[in-house]
Amino acid sequence: MSDEIKKGLLGIVVDETTISQVMPDINALTYRGYAVQDLCETCKFEEVAYLVLKGDLPNSIQLNKFKKEERENRNITINLREIIKHMPKRSHPMDVVRTVVSVMGLEDKETSDNSPEANMRKAMRIFAKTPTAIAAFFRARKGKKVIPPKKELSFSENFFYMCFGKVPRKEIVKAFDVSLILYAEHSFNVSTFTARTITSSLSDIHGAITGAVASLKGPLHGGANEEVMHMLKKIKKPENAKKWILDALKKKKLIMGFGHRVYSKGDSRVPTMKKYYLKVAEILKEKKLPKMSQIIETIMIEKKNIHPNLDYPSGPTYHLMKFDTDFFTPIFVMARITGWSAHIMEQHASNKLIRPLSKYSGEKHRKVMLLNQR
Ligand code: CMC
Repeated sequence: MSDEIKKGLLGIVVDETTISQVMPDINALTYRGYAVQDLCETCKFEEVAYLVLKGDLPNSIQLNKFKKEERENRNITINLREIIKHMPKRSHPMDVVRTVVSVMGLEDKETSDNSPEANMRKAMRIFAKTPTAIAAFFRARKGKKVIPPKKELSFSENFFYMCFGKVPRKEIVKAFDVSLILYAEHSFNVSTFTARTITSSLSDIHGAITGAVASLKGPLHGGANEEVMHMLKKIKKPENAKKWILDALKKKKLIMGFGHRVYSKGDSRVPTMKKYYLKVAEILKEKKLPKMSQIIETIMIEKKNIHPNLDYPSGPTYHLMKFDTDFFTPIFVMARITGWSAHIMEQHASNKLIRPLSKYSGEKHRKVMLLNQR
């Protein structure tokens, strides 16, 4: 057995997956063999959710059944709605989401059933209910009346409706749908690996997703989309961007929304998200934000050869859509629940307890002294 330490599991292949493939050499990403940018242009998010969860693109009968199941499961219990209303208003929405998924586990009759059928039913319930819970907190913390879900609306339309009481024009909904498709799945990232690790002890899906949400919150992972927006707000206007970024680089600051563990030549999802970010900005006649984004991106590539990741264009897109900044990562959750659930089911289907080794570097052979001698 080798003693070599691979900190952060850098470059280590820990298992196989049939869910997605990240191909850094050619800047490509596929879900179940389909190129993600093709899915964005051809499919609605519900079709891709079906693909990620079930392994293939649905035909229209399968899709209608899937949509019906999702729409019928959107309501959260009165109990959960009351819990959300009573959560401290200053709570980070990701902490609320983490708690909400955990409470859903308490309420679910099949929590301890880890059969593939029960896991798929539970995945659908978590997928359908989480946006309702997120939107409830979005409104409740502002003292606004919670808006229940509407069955006639698509997944994305319904989320806008529950947050704002109305659905924006179709181009905006499409851009949101695209962001969800791009966020749905990304192989063995931190939160997915967390979910698989929790699952490997034969724990349940609610626990695994609760852990995954906690992991996604961090600024090195999903939390980066919020940090990107905080940065752009600090910079304020395009005229300040060049100086700000050069100063930040001089101070060796980490620039959020840039870099990736797997992609070195750029994140395969960025061109598609950037296209929709610019489209949304154009529709809303917003010029400052995309200008700032471009200045920073150009300097990061020129000076550091570090490319933007998906969080870089998605953050300002959600801002233009009027979502509060601390709700960006919860939106990421709504999409990634599909990927996490697929991985949890894949882990159950071919499980091996995940238990790596460590090299001990602490004190050796110490004598235990009596309390009064220490
Ligand atoms: N800004 C400035 N320098 C950077 C950045 C950045 N965003 N990313 C990497 N570097 C530098 C880093 O300082 C290091 O330099 P040196 O070799 O001189 O010490 C070098 O590039 C290699 O970086 P690393 O930290 O060893 O790479 P990693 O694979 O461990 O980290 C990362 C990957 C994503 C954590 C990192 O790039 C980062 O912290 N980025 C900012 C946070 C972010 O945008 N996260 C979102 C990740 S992708 C989507 C998602 O998961 O949501």
